[in-house]
Amino acid sequence: MRLNPFTGAYLSDPASVWRRILDDPAGVHHAEDLGLWLISRHEHVRRALGDAGTFGNALTLAPVYEVCPEAMSVIMQIDAPPTTAAADPPVHPRTRRALRATFANTPDRVESEYGPIVRRRVDQLVSRLVARQGRQVDLVPEFATELPLLVVLDILGVPDADIGRIRSWADGQIALIWGQPDPEEQVRLAQGLLEFWHYCQELVRQRADSGHLGDDFISRALTYRDDDDDVLTVTEVASLAFNLLVAGHETTAGLLAHALDQALSSPQRWRAIAADPLSVPAFVAETLRFAPAIDGWLRVTRREVTLGDVTIPAGARCLLLIGAANRDSAVFAHPDRFDPHRSDGRDHLSFGHGPHFCIGAALARLEAGIALTRLAAAIPGLRLTSEQHRSYKPNVAFRAHHALAATIDIMAPVDDPKVRATASAEVRAA
Ligand code: HEM
Repeated sequence: MRLNPFTGAYLSDPASVWRRILDDPAGVHHAEDLGLWLISRHEHVRRALGDAGTFGNALTLAPVYEVCPEAMSVIMQIDAPPTTAAADPPVHPRTRRALRATFANTPDRVESEYGPIVRRRVDQLVSRLVARQGRQVDLVPEFATELPLLVVLDILGVPDADIGRIRSWADGQIALIWGQPDPEEQVRLAQGLLEFWHYCQELVRQRADSGHLGDDFISRALTYRDDDDDVLTVTEVASLAFNLLVAGHETTAGLLAHALDQALSSPQRWRAIAADPLSVPAFVAETLRFAPAIDGWLRVTRREVTLGDVTIPAGARCLLLIGAANRDSAVFAHPDRFDPHRSDGRDHLSFGHGPHFCIGAALARLEAGIALTRLAAAIPGLRLTSEQHRSYKPNVAFRAHHALAATIDIMAPVDDPKVRATASAEVRAA
């Protein structure tokens, strides 16, 4: 089985590739060119995400290709200890405990602790867009990537002034680890990642030396460790910040772009969001299933394992095709149909499953809900420009739009009853 995630159909129409892989009777395939085992069925992806004894996380944040020696010598200097997403037991349960204690991760805690931050940042960005009335904007840099980054900076207590370099380091990390850069680019990106790691260490060191710990995440993590390295080391606090600054924004940025793409694909959908905010959580859930922001994720087998009729050896890197699993007809009725009213939508695997389940899921849902509701209320006439060439950044994990061009129109479109009737029929048919 061949899969080229960096060009061609996988970038322009990933669903067609997932369908081809899902329809193949073997279910699990070895992609020799990539050196990865492809796991696509819902049952198998769920098992691999949840069975930490068989499928380890140790190589999740290691490049998916053979890095050139010069870049590797830079990468080797990044001595960030593995925490959460890159850790296996016994480090994983300890660092996850630390994160759960210091980072709000239930809907109630997220609403009370981060809700005010999210609303302030959404309003700020929406006002900026409203001021561009009549103009064309690119919703990816001007809204979808900006919002989650600003929110995560506020949560960590990082100054806005650092936004540019954090964005560029985080984008660089994705290209370096999950992409296919040429050797010269590998070296440049690796140097950026090393700088990023030094930046996070400095951030934590300054906070620790300030003698004044506040309510931001870094302060909370330092308070939580209470000078006890068996609980959490200072370097592990820096490693958590290093991970959160990427995981906390690149993912939600993808979700926002996919949700806007779906919502603006017809004026009726956009109008329905403005008219009925209570429908938004289901809309977001279906976006997560249909177009996951992370549609491939990595594991390495810790021992030989058999999935269906296929045996994967120990030490093999596996690409869990979350996007394919979310389209598995064994679990989802009419899986290729975007249907916010479906009853099986909650079974998607877009936030993972089991011990590594996404710690930021509640925050991502809150951000997407508030963003869509307030944007639709303020700019009911927002529409995608007609010449839309969708393309995604080439990597195996993060499905991120390059651009989403739209026109700002704060006037609500005329509510034509004929159009409304067609829309209702469309929703009923879905
Ligand atoms: C739409 C948005 C998001 C998506 C699609 C997403 C996806 C995922 C997935 C698939 C995992 C599982 C990784 C694994 O099994 O190895 C995960 C874990 C994680 N996510 Fe998210 N995520 C999102 C938002 C966020 C946000 C907003 C944050 C934090 C601010 C965050 C922080 C984390 C962390 C720290 C982990 C590691 C948890 C662990 O290993 O115990 N994520 N996420």
